[in-house]
Amino acid sequence: MNDVIEWLKINGNLKIIDAPLDVELEIPHVAYVEVKKDDSRPLLFTHPINKAKNITYDIPVLMNIFANKALTEKIFGKHPDTVAQGIDKLLKMKPPKGFMEKIKIIPELFALKNVFPKRLKGKGECQQIIIPKSDVDLDKLPILKTWEEDGGPFITMGQVYTQSLDGSMQNLGMYRLQQYDKNHLGMHWQIHKDASHFFDQYQKAGKKMPVTIGIGGDPLYIWCGQAPMPHGMFEMLLYGFVRGKNAQLVKSITNDIYIPKDVDIVIEGFVDPSKMHIEGPFGDHTGYYTLKEPYPIMEVETITMKTKPVFQATVVGKPPLEDKYMGWATERIFLPMLKPMAPDLIDYYMPENGVFHNLILGKMKTLYKGHAQQFMHAFWGVGQMSFVKHAIFVNQDAPELEDAQAITEYILNRLDPKKILITQGIIDALDHSANETLVGGKLGIDCTGDMVVENIETPLKDEVLLEKMQEIDGNILELKQYFMQTKNPICLISVHKTQSIQNIITKLKPLKEHIKVLVIVDKINNDINEPYMLLWRVVNNIDAQRDIVKEPFIAIDGTNKSQLDGFTREWPGDTFCTKDVLDNLQAKGLIDINDAFIKKFGLLPFNN
Ligand SMILES: Cc1cc2nc3c(=O)[nH]c(=O)nc-3n(C[C@H](O)[C@H](O)[C@H](O)COP(=O)(O)O)c2cc1C
Repeated sequence: MNDVIEWLKINGNLKIIDAPLDVELEIPHVAYVEVKKDDSRPLLFTHPINKAKNITYDIPVLMNIFANKALTEKIFGKHPDTVAQGIDKLLKMKPPKGFMEKIKIIPELFALKNVFPKRLKGKGECQQIIIPKSDVDLDKLPILKTWEEDGGPFITMGQVYTQSLDGSMQNLGMYRLQQYDKNHLGMHWQIHKDASHFFDQYQKAGKKMPVTIGIGGDPLYIWCGQAPMPHGMFEMLLYGFVRGKNAQLVKSITNDIYIPKDVDIVIEGFVDPSKMHIEGPFGDHTGYYTLKEPYPIMEVETITMKTKPVFQATVVGKPPLEDKYMGWATERIFLPMLKPMAPDLIDYYMPENGVFHNLILGKMKTLYKGHAQQFMHAFWGVGQMSFVKHAIFVNQDAPELEDAQAITEYILNRLDPKKILITQGIIDALDHSANETLVGGKLGIDCTGDMVVENIETPLKDEVLLEKMQEIDGNILELKQYFMQTKNPICLISVHKTQSIQNIITKLKPLKEHIKVLVIVDKINNDINEPYMLLWRVVNNIDAQRDIVKEPFIAIDGTNKSQLDGFTREWPGDTFCTKDVLDNLQAKGLIDINDAFIKKFGLLPFNN
């Protein structure tokens, strides 16, 4: 990482913050604000402290390495599209015919030898210092507590290396790790993830599961850890493919797991599958807290490190954050891997304010009736793509998927209730909207066809329509119409919720000549003038089976759910910054934000 720091100074406009800052809230808040800026930079905190525990750390904290697209591309050493092209070529490789073709293929095959990780003998730089079990103390690491209501400090950029019970499969996954005390960590590998599958094997066999966690080293390791590789494929193969050189691995000191020799810090240990421990809450990348749940717990056997280690961390919360840029690279690189199951897929885009699994836009070459539906089912059935809650497909003539204005107009001009598919499937373990965990509503919208014919019958001005609505229900507080130029304008209303929104929708049905698409949000903590955060809120909060009505207009209930809706799970809160911490950082000149910025990104609660 010290090499990475030098590299970032030259290539990444690294900002070095020497002021002593607390690992609880202060450092995470600075990083959170920074990465939301248009010109966001990576940050090095050279003096992390912990005021509550009275600790001064001698390990600096490096954050926001993936601070923007340009830097992400530099970390890869090439544009992610170039990596994708390489994968595409590989997937399409055919056995050579004749001598000349054989010759041509040699360099490609030769390059492939770099893919396989190399297991080295002896120790790596990551094992220059070896701390025995008796001296293990996780408090010596500057582990961050990001949000006020987090259950404790969490390692947020841990590379979690595991292997199957028979040792035939290795895995690298990026999972958060809660620090409980000096030598115990919570393993938040969700039920659908590879390490959890391995854990099941150890549990059935009644054996302790070895785990080794790496922190730092080549930034590409952590990107590989979050990449949705198919089950059974070691992410270090992807590393070798992208870097064009083999990952160099060394054996952990206390178990048989191999880890990159150049990571900065290594935490080795065992998970006893007969024990679970409450993990969380944790303010997650959905922008909501994930609630307390039992997860496996690891007892640390040893910590090893370089002589001058650097602690790498990230902040998750409301978008946009560092995972936007990591996700962008993932999205580009995995396009060719989606094509075998959806050959006519031209492109796809997972906007970060849809927190990836809540919204996907797909562009396709439509060849037959039901083609888009075929894609929806394919996506909902494969790997981590199956977590996607809402999928919208457009035809090849559609504008760029990232052009929010143009693509929304295109979609609204083709939105037809008859082409809306609502079904059920598996959902991300972090989803809070469904009536039960892990299974919930899926929405697929087929906009691959022609423009719809019907316009809104009688459009009204915002204030006139609001008045009509308020005559029906006084809890409707604000109204703003978007995309009036399209066939399906969106009428957004905010409400003071005292009843099920389904009641309000039913009462508004007589206004059908003035409404095509009605979206309802709570007044509290939503600003009807901020479409970026509104999209984030609505796709997070809805379960399509419960919250969408198709007739006589499309209505979407994006409000928080409660017993008023017959919702019996706990509804989590938003991740909000701590006001005093923001004020203090602002006073010290460590951040520079104004009210508009705070409101735009929902940094603090509001109810105006
Ligand atoms: C910043 C960030 C944090 C993440 N935290 C977790 C987590 O705590 N638990 C989890 O299961 N997945 C988490 N993920 C997603 C996994 O890293 C991702 O699904 C990965 O593909 C899992 O690897 P696996 O399929 O080998 O298990 C996170 C991703 C990112 C970008």
